[in-house]
Amino acid sequence: MNAAVRAVVRRGLSAGLEVYGIRRGYEGLLNGEAFPMDLGSVADIIHRGGTILHTARSERFRQAEYQDQAAAWVKAQGLDGLVVIGGEGTFKGMAELCKRGVRAVAVPATIDNDIPHTDYSIGFDTAVNTGVEAVNRLRDTATSHERIFVVETMGRNSGQLALAVGLAGGAESILIPELPIDMKKVCAKLERGIARGKVHSIIVVAEGAAKGFKVAEEIEKCMGTEIRVTVLGHVQRGGTPTAFDRLLASRMGAKAVDALREGYSNVMVGISGTELKLVPLDQVIGAEKPIDMEVYTLAEDLAK
Ligand code: F6P
Repeated sequence: MNAAVRAVVRRGLSAGLEVYGIRRGYEGLLNGEAFPMDLGSVADIIHRGGTILHTARSERFRQAEYQDQAAAWVKAQGLDGLVVIGGEGTFKGMAELCKRGVRAVAVPATIDNDIPHTDYSIGFDTAVNTGVEAVNRLRDTATSHERIFVVETMGRNSGQLALAVGLAGGAESILIPELPIDMKKVCAKLERGIARGKVHSIIVVAEGAAKGFKVAEEIEKCMGTEIRVTVLGHVQRGGTPTAFDRLLASRMGAKAVDALREGYSNVMVGISGTELKLVPLDQVIGAEKPIDMEVYTLAEDLAK
């Protein structure tokens, strides 16, 4: 997200705009936490994870009276447009502000990559790489000790992250919330592997599909061996962003500023292939981003 903040600030300044940062998202709007940003304010952040602006879950912003208050504050400050960076919850808040006459453009950022109408959201690629790196490391122990490992990734409602980590990490099975879990199939695959001399296996499970420890218990029952579990958790949400994420965030942040200047509002910047596009926010909110079944089937087919 820092790379996106940097792009918004610097593109805005290049265009001769005054740029303000708002700390702590919607909480910051309610508390009047805006401050001017100059070129130096975003120096040395492109390589850092997270956001220098901080973020907050604002419970009160869900209520209409606070949405009114925030919109009135934006107008009173003379802010001509907001760039809102986040996931679906953030976008719902933005839609409320737009209804109240605030102009805003959304930039998708979530490691879950579950936002429809964009191939990627900021943070996903970094999280996938962190997950794959973890699987690589676990594989060393799994091979040496001839063990089965269960790796739990984030993804409360979405299996996009687990699927990418599983396919790129060569996992034997991938369990995701979008598809029913079939433990018999998982165990049968493990047995087939052992029968042909395989000494280790990795099962990737999205936290929203099942708890890693629960999956391990089930496998212990059918395989009769001890299983090791690693829960990646918030480790996946931090760290140096990948070059891909920095490129994406830089392009999307700049595009959001351009879109506001061109008169767009209530839209999200998305990416299709390598092309940036603007998508009306009402097409994004409430829509689903389905799992690519071709990719899932490929993962199954390749992991023997
Ligand atoms: O929405 C992104 C996400 O990383 C989910 O995958 C995860 O379940 C959740 O955030 C964790 O949120 P929190 O930090 O509030 O526990």
